[in-house]
Amino acid sequence: MDGADGVYPASEDTYLLIDALQQDAEFLRHRFSKGLGLEVGCGSGEVSEALSKIIETAVCISTDVNPLAVIKTRGLLKGRTSVDFVLCDMFSAFKPGIQFEIIVFNPPYVPTDDNELQRALESRDISASWAGGREGRQVIDIFLDEFIRFLAKDGVMYLVLLEANKPIEVIEKANRAGFLVRTVMKRKAGIEQLYVLRFQQK
Ligand SMILES: C[S@@+](CC[C@H](N)C(=O)[O-])C[C@H]1O[C@@H](n2cnc3c(N)ncnc32)[C@H](O)[C@@H]1O
Repeated sequence: MDGADGVYPASEDTYLLIDALQQDAEFLRHRFSKGLGLEVGCGSGEVSEALSKIIETAVCISTDVNPLAVIKTRGLLKGRTSVDFVLCDMFSAFKPGIQFEIIVFNPPYVPTDDNELQRALESRDISASWAGGREGRQVIDIFLDEFIRFLAKDGVMYLVLLEANKPIEVIEKANRAGFLVRTVMKRKAGIEQLYVLRFQQK
């Protein structure tokens, strides 16, 4: 797999996030057997597949801005009645008041210039998988402002970050917004240091 189909291929960051969810599987299954799960930016669908297997009695929704990603994820998960698929930007498909027990996002985190990010946002193609703007934080910061309204009070959110995204700054910001944040996984991928952070309300 190399993205030739227009969808971000499952990569080291994908597997890091899956490993983090599997490490927490007992906790997630126990706490959220009847909840609603959400993957923002499902790409090839492998994270959504793993999440829906972990919380198999809950309903999971997979979203992406890239239509090819939504189609691919739907193909991977066809037959699973507890999973649904939505083509949308971030949380735009959801009315205020809807609450998810689990939210996961492996975001576009690669630092790019503003033009590249703008092109990615307009094209909604595979470039939206990585183009993250300044410090790779532009999409991440929008997500961090928005997820708060959609996470259930006892819910958890998992986010993949790169060292260049300044995870410590992200943690401090989330702490100020009332969240406890733990680094549940970290791994070197080539020259990059990847993290998975878990957010819960204090
Ligand atoms: C790094 S890829 C991760 C894909 C997949 N979750 C994985 O882990 O392999 C980021 C994904 O987020 C999607 N994406 C980017 N911006 C988005 C937004 N504003 N709303 C929803 N999805 C977005 C991209 O199209 C891409 O599929």
